[in-house]
Amino acid sequence: MLELKSVNPKKERIKTLVIPVCEDADIHDIRPVGVLTKKAMKLEEFSGKAEEEVVFHHPAELAADRVILMGAGPLASADLETYRALAGRAVRGCMTRGIDDVLIAVPSEGKSGIGAADLITAMMEGAFLANHIFDRYKSDKKQAPLKDIALWVKARDAGRLAGLPDRVAAACEGTLLARDWVSLPANDKRPDAYAESIAARARDRGLIAEVWDEKALEENGFGALLAVGQGSLARPRLVILEYRPKNAAKTVCLIGKGVTFDSGGLNLKVGGSMEGMKMDMAGSAAVAGALISAARLTPKVNIVGILPLVENMPSGGAIRPGDIIRTYSGKTVEIGNTDAEGRLILADALAYAVNTYHPDTLIDLATLTGACVVALGEKIAAVFTAEDALAEAILASGRRTHERCWRMPMPEDYKELLKSDFADISNMSSSKWGGAITAALFLSSFVKDTRWAHIDIAGPAYAKKAGPYCGPGGTGFGVRLLLDLLERI
Ligand code: BES
Ligand code: MN
Ligand code: ZN
Repeated sequence: MLELKSVNPKKERIKTLVIPVCEDADIHDIRPVGVLTKKAMKLEEFSGKAEEEVVFHHPAELAADRVILMGAGPLASADLETYRALAGRAVRGCMTRGIDDVLIAVPSEGKSGIGAADLITAMMEGAFLANHIFDRYKSDKKQAPLKDIALWVKARDAGRLAGLPDRVAAACEGTLLARDWVSLPANDKRPDAYAESIAARARDRGLIAEVWDEKALEENGFGALLAVGQGSLARPRLVILEYRPKNAAKTVCLIGKGVTFDSGGLNLKVGGSMEGMKMDMAGSAAVAGALISAARLTPKVNIVGILPLVENMPSGGAIRPGDIIRTYSGKTVEIGNTDAEGRLILADALAYAVNTYHPDTLIDLATLTGACVVALGEKIAAVFTAEDALAEAILASGRRTHERCWRMPMPEDYKELLKSDFADISNMSSSKWGGAITAALFLSSFVKDTRWAHIDIAGPAYAKKAGPYCGPGGTGFGVRLLLDLLERI
């Protein structure tokens, strides 16, 4: 359980208390917390630097079994993410110690310089997201999530912000679902099974969910999705999720790349670059997660999620370089490289979304290019859009949720690089440079004049190493960002 509490330490015995401590300023105004902070700062081994930790057992100042003081670094650089991570570390620390109940002291608004609602939200997020492990394939489950997580806040905030824990839990549910889907091995999320798993979760939350099989895809002309899927024994699927609140004026379509495994196809990936490719469906997982959370958060906007799911494999039935396929839009594509499969399935989904829903805003999330990871590294996503306001809104949401994004250009003249001698367009650039940009430009030819943004999450969708409130495995990158954006769109 996740809750806000205003503790009376004279009446209530505390089991484990975690206190964030800045190295150069007192950030607490709950009295016994401040007293313990001062006591810790007098120790030689603790000065409040980031990552530092000191534990008091049964301190005289407070009826607590255990108090853990955690360094937050200098006050000036302690932002929302510092506290989000700190709450995450607190929960992880308890988990490894076998503690199943924690109370975390929230710094005061006046002293930390951060608004109470924002600070409490961030700390709850960090704690909630950290309290989850993907261990369903482990026979010996060494760690268990905590049963109770509470934040110690002022009585006034506990009352005023009483609705926050539920909202944070709702937003984090989608993130954790997305993480688990991404972490799942490809043999247990082939398109049919993965589609049903998404649809079941979505229906549980009251969303409308449809799953199209191969026949429906054929009848509807999804030539690109079928082409990518033809090399695999597992047939492709399309999942359509709909959230339709009363009195919503606008419609947002969210598209997510769902390649459940990307071997590259006949342009087989080389050793080293294929291993991680179970994560190539992270865009679809993020969109599904966002819709499932949205059903609980109830933003006032229609949301349609469109998820093309497919496995990209080499076989006697696979598409070949040089093949020409007909997409949903009617445009033909020459396959320059079977490993540029993401843009193919997105082409169908984007054109279908534009054609069917005439959305006010269209956003796709995709682990689309290795070039994007080269450009921005493993923590930052690339945003491509012609619309300045939409770009700024996405970047701002990403700043708030710490799902960092960076805007990239879409130069008209680079479209030259996608010319095909025989088809309307090639899926492969004729230049080996700027691959994230040319992939975005490819997509742009399937959205007509719709207000559209493409987010390449190839870097941040997966974390090989655990962070303070995530991983290792799928990160759920994009879910909280989308939810923040949907509240403001
Ligand atoms: N799924 C990959 C992109 C990717 C790479 C995601 C690394 C996450 C980490 C995508 O389908 C792909 O293979 N892209 C190719 C495109 C190229 C053939 C034009 C790439 O980036 O090399
Ligand atoms: Mn590929
Ligand atoms: Zn791919």
